[in-house]
Amino acid sequence: MKSKLTSLFFATFLLLASCGNNRIVPETKDYFIEIPYQNNFRILQLTDLHISDKDDQDLHYRFIDLTIMDANPHLIVVTGDIFTFASKSTAKRLFNYLDSHGVPWTVTFGNHDEQCNFSINWLAQYLSNYGSNCLFKDIANDNVYGNCNFVINLKKDNAVHEQIIIMDSNRYNFGSYFGYDYIKQDQIEWYEKIVNYTTEQNGSVVPSIIYCHIPIPEMNEAWEKSQKGDPDAVHEFGEKREKICPPDYNSGLFDMMVSLGSTRAMFFGHDHLNNFCVTYKGISLGYGITSTNRFYHDENLIGGQVVVIHDDHSLTYEQYYHSYDEVR
Ligand SMILES: [Fe+2]
Repeated sequence: MKSKLTSLFFATFLLLASCGNNRIVPETKDYFIEIPYQNNFRILQLTDLHISDKDDQDLHYRFIDLTIMDANPHLIVVTGDIFTFASKSTAKRLFNYLDSHGVPWTVTFGNHDEQCNFSINWLAQYLSNYGSNCLFKDIANDNVYGNCNFVINLKKDNAVHEQIIIMDSNRYNFGSYFGYDYIKQDQIEWYEKIVNYTTEQNGSVVPSIIYCHIPIPEMNEAWEKSQKGDPDAVHEFGEKREKICPPDYNSGLFDMMVSLGSTRAMFFGHDHLNNFCVTYKGISLGYGITSTNRFYHDENLIGGQVVVIHDDHSLTYEQYYHSYDEVR
């Protein structure tokens, strides 16, 4: 009788323990997606589409097509605020439109992507299972905050030539302050693990580019210093036409990037009227170009930006601007 009671106690304990802790710890390589590197690899960044149900969606598609035709990309990355006030059918239509170009594509989420008739979890799961040309991976219930932390490895001769790291800059913070959220500590630890694992596997540090939505706090510092001629902050191109809006809290991702020496560029969306890039402490911090006229914008500042990864690992940038007059 005693042993039966003991067994029952342990069985109940194990059941409760497993119910209380349903987070999983995947292996680092589980976050990787691989595609072949091609010479002078072209990544088109589209951002802040803000597509809603009430829009003339075909008009937006015709407009975005102009930029995609110019860019001739090997990969398209949409850096958040993809939707605002959209339903699942609008979301599915946009993804089918992106997919129809026959080019690998992916997205990261912005702060407005949850202001829709679906949850971020639905979006992440839908994209994780999309298949076709979509490169997206969200490991549900992992121990990393956010819904789109994953890596696209560009493979060349069985080695990783370059890593494209997609991070979720999250949405709003309702805790220590109210405002835009920040990249959490466990995401920074995840990033460190990704870089160290890749270094170990390849025998040397592999260059990487990060895409996310909300700029990190160093964006302000980089711009200010570049305007004062600080040698640590080199203005590469573009303008600041509005306030830079990072989170109020600096969780330390940039310091980690500097110390690991892998990431040499990081691109954001979020601030629709800024399109500048500053190389700060050796890392290029840059905005993309708002890609529709759906939300606040400047008429001469809508289109998309291409980053070209050259065979010698150098980066060059191309900007494409268009007007809706071309497609009406
Ligand atoms: Fe936006």
